[in-house]
Amino acid sequence: MKNIVVVGSQWGDEGKGKIVDWLSSEADVVVRFQGGHNAGHTLVIDGITYKLRLLPSGIVRKNKISIIGNGVVIDPWAFIDEVNEIKSKGISVDENNLIISESATLILPFHIEMDEIREDAAGNSKIGTTRRGIGPAYEDKVGRRSIRVIDLISEENLDKRLDNVLIHHNAIRRGLGKKVFEKENLKKELLKIAPKILRFSQPVWKKIEEFKKENKKILFEGAQGILLDVDHGTYPFVTSSNTVASSAATGSGCGLNSINYVLGITKAYTTRVGEGPFPTELKDEIGNHLGEKGHEFGTVTSRKRRCGWFDGVLVRQTIKISGIHGIALTKLDVLDELDEINLCVAYELNGKKIDYFPASVEDQLNVKPVYKKFEGWKSKTQGIKRFDDLPEKAKIYVKAIEEFIETKISSISTSPERKDTILIQDPFNP
Ligand code: GDP
Ligand code: IMO
Ligand code: MG
Repeated sequence: MKNIVVVGSQWGDEGKGKIVDWLSSEADVVVRFQGGHNAGHTLVIDGITYKLRLLPSGIVRKNKISIIGNGVVIDPWAFIDEVNEIKSKGISVDENNLIISESATLILPFHIEMDEIREDAAGNSKIGTTRRGIGPAYEDKVGRRSIRVIDLISEENLDKRLDNVLIHHNAIRRGLGKKVFEKENLKKELLKIAPKILRFSQPVWKKIEEFKKENKKILFEGAQGILLDVDHGTYPFVTSSNTVASSAATGSGCGLNSINYVLGITKAYTTRVGEGPFPTELKDEIGNHLGEKGHEFGTVTSRKRRCGWFDGVLVRQTIKISGIHGIALTKLDVLDELDEINLCVAYELNGKKIDYFPASVEDQLNVKPVYKKFEGWKSKTQGIKRFDDLPEKAKIYVKAIEEFIETKISSISTSPERKDTILIQDPFNP
């Protein structure tokens, strides 16, 4: 059995889509297990760009099965739009290559409105969410009042469920002086869209069991990054799901013994979208350069991503928390023109040196990075496909990261293109 989980080891947008697409040549099945269309995974194949939000990145390859697991939150209309968009690029999406879990939670219009109401009301303390209704949908799931894919099957059931969830939402909406949300129109629209969702729905846990018996290789595709995990991230500036690798098991319905290898996707510098602590952030020319050269604009919201130096302390910590076996280091080429490169190896907090990221947001905002300096290589790594072909100074930087984070760098990505990837160790055969 050779199944791997891919997770982001920073604040998301590490290049998971590119690496999952690249690895999926070897996989049979690709599974999304948490998050929703807050994710934006970019694939570039022979010059054509695909932006996936909810669909697993395996969808673009022929003869692969894509699965949206129970841990994902699905906006049914956003899902249909994405399916149509990807089909318009010549990719086939049907019951033969896509399965949706019957027990996945739906994101409904009142979730999106609640996300917006809260963000707008929060002023300076807003989270900077993607405003896709992710948080409110997960709250309803944990609050045991969600509407799930399987609820679309009967009008009677849907009616009861909508009454139940709207009692809760309308109480809050009234309290906030907002219009109550009417059930009838939403029910009508949901019943209209139901067949387009239900045609894909199956018991995912059972399908995964079948695939395991058939010795198929399964690749679990994480969304966001571990620093956005609701337990382990920079709370409250996080998303509302667990983004760590073990979520692959709960979010799809397979045991931990189904997972053999965890690959952490890691940018050769750091970015973050939205609010929250970011110790190595660069609000200067170098930060702007990274943003421009790395095209650091959100895939989902087009917001400018904040950029900074590689934070070894953070990545070493997320590797431990998530049980990462190896790293795919991405976007090394973005550093090609820099004279000097900094790597954060410790923090100073209230005059003391510390070797980990503290849990309180106040401390997280106050830590000062301690840097180790490296000479820039000032030559092109873009498109390089063999480690030996990298400039010596780039090798020194990569090796220093590897040593500091105490984890093998198993591949290096040198451009957005699928083919521009250096393979050092195959995660399917480590
Ligand atoms: P994800 O959310 O982790 O899948 O990452 P995104 O797709 O949101 O953001 C990563 C961006 O970097 C995308 O535009 C990718 O096409 C691009 N990218 C991925 N790997 C590389 C790389 O090695 N070099 C460069 N220059 N761009 C890359
Ligand atoms: P991928 O999968 C980067 C961030 C938002 C915000 C916080 C909460 O492309 O790496 P949410 O809408 O989830 O309630 O927002 O999380 N965020 C992401 N940042 N990449 C993502 O996904 C993200 N998904 C959510 O910007 O700070
Ligand atoms: Mg992204």
